[in-house]
Amino acid sequence: MLNLNRVTKQFGGLTAVDQISFDVETGIIMGLIGPNGAGKTTLINMISGLMPLTSGTIHFNGADVTNLPAHKLCKLGIARTYQNIRLFADMSVLGNVLAGRHLQTPWSSRYWRWLFPYRDSTAQAQKAASEALLKRLQMVDLRDHDAADLSYGDQRRVELARALATEPRLLLLDEPSAGMNQSETFQLGELILQLREEGVTILLIEHDMDLINQVCDQVVVINFGAKIAQGEPQVVRRDPVVIEAYLGQEEA
Ligand SMILES: Nc1ncnc2c1ncn2[C@@H]1O[C@H](COP(=O)(O)OP(=O)(O)O)[C@@H](O)[C@H]1O
Ligand SMILES: [Mg+2]
Repeated sequence: MLNLNRVTKQFGGLTAVDQISFDVETGIIMGLIGPNGAGKTTLINMISGLMPLTSGTIHFNGADVTNLPAHKLCKLGIARTYQNIRLFADMSVLGNVLAGRHLQTPWSSRYWRWLFPYRDSTAQAQKAASEALLKRLQMVDLRDHDAADLSYGDQRRVELARALATEPRLLLLDEPSAGMNQSETFQLGELILQLREEGVTILLIEHDMDLINQVCDQVVVINFGAKIAQGEPQVVRRDPVVIEAYLGQEEA
């Protein structure tokens, strides 16, 4: 489904992502791990069209999507959440999720009816779809709260709901469990597994190794921008090169 070929990003003299290549097969959950500053977020910023590549190519379902803008990638079925939460802070939880339904809203309805959201049948359908997502994420009671008033963990779940509202085929998650307690993290893992059952392919950046082990079919490990390992989580975590990368960080 996703093919990265020698994907590289330089910021001035710093090579944040250095010739990374790997494939993500349809229907799997791929973990993306590595120490802080390894280049994980930069990589999914490029996959999701937030920043241009310095070099390399990205293919999605066989088509070259290198440097396509984010809205076109979204239309093709790529959605994401952000490590640094990017909700519409003074909009309600429901409003944030409705914003994710933008592409499912026909042109004729989109603009003026957007201003009067609950009046016509299209808008009603979008509202119902958004509410179903909130129900699924057990957030119905937070529906009318401003996004900014929520706890960190709840804000992450709204981000997830907004991404799911676009009906993605490939979902990119950037540290979705940050700010969640252990049981919330486990529930998040169960949800991620359900999404895979429903046919969503997932690329998951995560520090919580329990979550990685709970859900991932495969992981890619990066360090200083370069891929240092790839394989099943149980195998990769015993790889001396991977252990060294993480120990090196603890010493720093
Ligand atoms: N917009 C940017 N401008 C300059 N340097 C950046 C930018 N974004 C990230 N970096 C640098 O690129 C490296 C990788 O960062 P990042 O992708 O956020 O790592 P990770 O998500 O693995 O913690 C870091 O050294 C970071 O400081
Ligand atoms: Mg990051």
